[in-house]
Amino acid sequence: MYRYSEFDESFVRSRVAQFRGQVARRIDGSLTEDEFKPLRLMNGLYLQLHAYMLRVAIPYGTLDSAQMRQLAMIADRWDKGYGHFTTRQNIQFNWPKLADVPDMLDALADVGMHAIQTSGNTIRNVTADHFAGAAAGEVADPRPVAELIRQWSTDHPEFQFLPRKFKVAVTGHPDDRAVTAAHDIGLRLVERAGVPGATVLVGGGLGRTPMIGKVLADFVPLADLLPYLEAVVAVYNLLGRRDNKYKARIKITVHETGIEEIRAQVEAEFAARKPLFSGVDQEMLAAITAQFAPPVFEPEAEGDYETWRAADPVFRAFTDTNVTAHRAPGYAILTVSLKAHGATPGDCSSAQMRVLADLAERYAHDELRISHEQNVILPHLPKRHLKAVHDALLAAGLATANVGLVSDIIACPGMDYCALATARSIPVAQGIALRFEELRLEHEIGPLKIKISGCINACGHHHVGHIGILGLDRAGVESYQITLGGDGGPDAVIGERTGPGFAYDQIIPAIERILRAYLALREGRHETFLDAWRRLGMEPFKAALYDKEEARADAA
Ligand code: HEM
Ligand code: SF4
Repeated sequence: MYRYSEFDESFVRSRVAQFRGQVARRIDGSLTEDEFKPLRLMNGLYLQLHAYMLRVAIPYGTLDSAQMRQLAMIADRWDKGYGHFTTRQNIQFNWPKLADVPDMLDALADVGMHAIQTSGNTIRNVTADHFAGAAAGEVADPRPVAELIRQWSTDHPEFQFLPRKFKVAVTGHPDDRAVTAAHDIGLRLVERAGVPGATVLVGGGLGRTPMIGKVLADFVPLADLLPYLEAVVAVYNLLGRRDNKYKARIKITVHETGIEEIRAQVEAEFAARKPLFSGVDQEMLAAITAQFAPPVFEPEAEGDYETWRAADPVFRAFTDTNVTAHRAPGYAILTVSLKAHGATPGDCSSAQMRVLADLAERYAHDELRISHEQNVILPHLPKRHLKAVHDALLAAGLATANVGLVSDIIACPGMDYCALATARSIPVAQGIALRFEELRLEHEIGPLKIKISGCINACGHHHVGHIGILGLDRAGVESYQITLGGDGGPDAVIGERTGPGFAYDQIIPAIERILRAYLALREGRHETFLDAWRRLGMEPFKAALYDKEEARADAA
């Protein structure tokens, strides 16, 4: 894992000290809220519906037990005893008091964490595949590249006032768990003739004009990556629309300018910038890569795993859903679901954080990950420890065997916290999870991604959900728009709208009708919802959704 250098440490400390002064001036009234706003946003501090909210970066989703314990301490001491893991590998604290925020930031700095560039029109927290360095079939660990980008982009003088926020995601696995196609820049690490490099996608993004990223460069050698990225962001910085906030993202720039013209400008800019890099970035990348060396894997890691699986159906069901193949023999990648039926997706109590930290430290090479699906992962777990880990998770209410199923829903905070929300998200997610738990259909339905956003900004990724739900306001009444067939994987697609929306008390029955139609229409258990949708198209699902009179009556 990457450890802060002395430079990182003093940089972060000086930012906290600076912000401490700004907070003091806000509290004594010498700064107005308007004057304070840009300053707090540079430090990840938002003003939500009910309180301030502090967004803390978890770069590429990687944490150790000490960092996780510190998040628990912060949650207990300055918040309400829990934190919310988001879709961008951040954790949000929803209830801090302004006066406490500098102390929270200092506590983060104690464990090599910060909240810099988690808001504002800058290059945001760089995200990566949450199974990085662990998954079988990986081409390269994306985290050294993500860390290099983080160091390059943090406080980059040219890129502090971009036309709009800018999100970069990196994957090194063909499965693309980082949703690279829905980012301003998506990097897919590949190798060509023994040379490591990346395919560069540009102009993806969700929000009010969802777009899938386009390939800007099929292959950029890693040796050229930083000057190439700098060229892309520089071109965007010049061309990006500053006249209209809603047209300011690079996806619109690419759309309006055309990918060929953007490519030509990027190439020209790249040629000019490349000589300025002189190889220092490559020395940094080499030093960072050394810090991401995998742990020393145990030779006899499997132990009695298969015997336990055969003997205990609860353990078997848990490992069937929550374990992913590891590249080392005898090892597992364990996803711990933060989606207990009826719970708030992504919320984690301080007690649960401590349990997860203890398990990582004791059994799993002291490493944890946060996924964009709002779950926590033990990436390097010898299978011989899985039984003990499962027992501890059961006791902590963290053993829900639902990863990748109906109730493993992404949901943004919606009306429960967010000042921009037009509808609730969390109760919809909770209601769906509870309904399918009651029906005992979750395992029968199989792999399914439901994603919910409480407004058009799409923080809940609904466009790339197999079933997407978008909460809207229709004349003061919550209405929910359904999309089907979205996918965030390597061949990402934006979902299609089914038709008129549904009222709050209609949305869960509507989802149930879609899934009952799927069960009736599929060719067998092997045909997933997404496969069935691709084969059948919209019509049968639309018929199932809108045949009912009550659905029509409430349509908005
Ligand atoms: C204070 C609460 C939040 C505010 C004010 C907020 C605001 C926004 C806005 C305005 C956008 C649209 C940006 C644009 O298209 O230019 C957006 C997009 C997004 N936000 Fe949030 N958000 C909040 C919380 C969250 C949370 C909790 C998550 C994760 C659960 C999240 C993840 C995202 C993602 C993934 C996108 C779409 C990315 C894209 O368009 O490229 N946000 N957010
Ligand atoms: S999608 Fe809308 S309601 Fe949900 S967190 Fe984002 S801005 Fe808030």
